[in-house]
Amino acid sequence: MINEDSPIVPLVQSEDVQTAVKTAHALQVGGLSVIEVVLRSQAAMDCLEAIASGASDVIVGAGTVLTANQAEEAISKGAQFIVSPGLNEEVVSHCKAGGINVYPGVVTPSEVQRAWNLGLRTVKFFPAGLSGGVPMLKALSTVFREMRFMPTGGVSAENLQDYLALPSVVACGGSWLTPQKEIDAGNFEAVTGLARDALALARQARS
Ligand code: 3PG
Repeated sequence: MINEDSPIVPLVQSEDVQTAVKTAHALQVGGLSVIEVVLRSQAAMDCLEAIASGASDVIVGAGTVLTANQAEEAISKGAQFIVSPGLNEEVVSHCKAGGINVYPGVVTPSEVQRAWNLGLRTVKFFPAGLSGGVPMLKALSTVFREMRFMPTGGVSAENLQDYLALPSVVACGGSWLTPQKEIDAGNFEAVTGLARDALALARQARS
């Protein structure tokens, strides 16, 4: 679900379903079709459902999933993957039992080890910038040689290529592609432009 084919996973956060759908569409037009809807608003589940049912070529997942119940509801609304800020074993086992990919957030070697022991081979590295960024990921990747990471938190157009240059980084997540100011102004072309720019940077970093 999250793999090298989609090196950027934009976050969508919205209080309004139509706005979320337009944001997802703008991202898709810009070439980003794996989208994470974060469960941080009253309308988040409805946004998720609308995006999942409206665009067949978009892969939508739920982010900021803190409990197994939230994971269950998000999956019922069409989430194809689950992302959590931390490592909650209930969320992980619930998703694994249902055959849904799950990417919990980890930072420390002990957390990576726990995730590995739970059978996970791709995890979120969150909050990436504050947790040591690229040097920390390099250190973790040296010892956990088969673990793949999705850094999120503090990733931007400025440092995207540094993260993607690491072989252990499968994709980067972030909200820089969906700036609230542009979305509030209805400037979805700006979102498309940011998506295109980011994709170009990612292709350059991976070439
Ligand atoms: C997340 O939800 O994963 C992070 O809050 C995203 O961090 P960012 O806003 O720095 O991209």
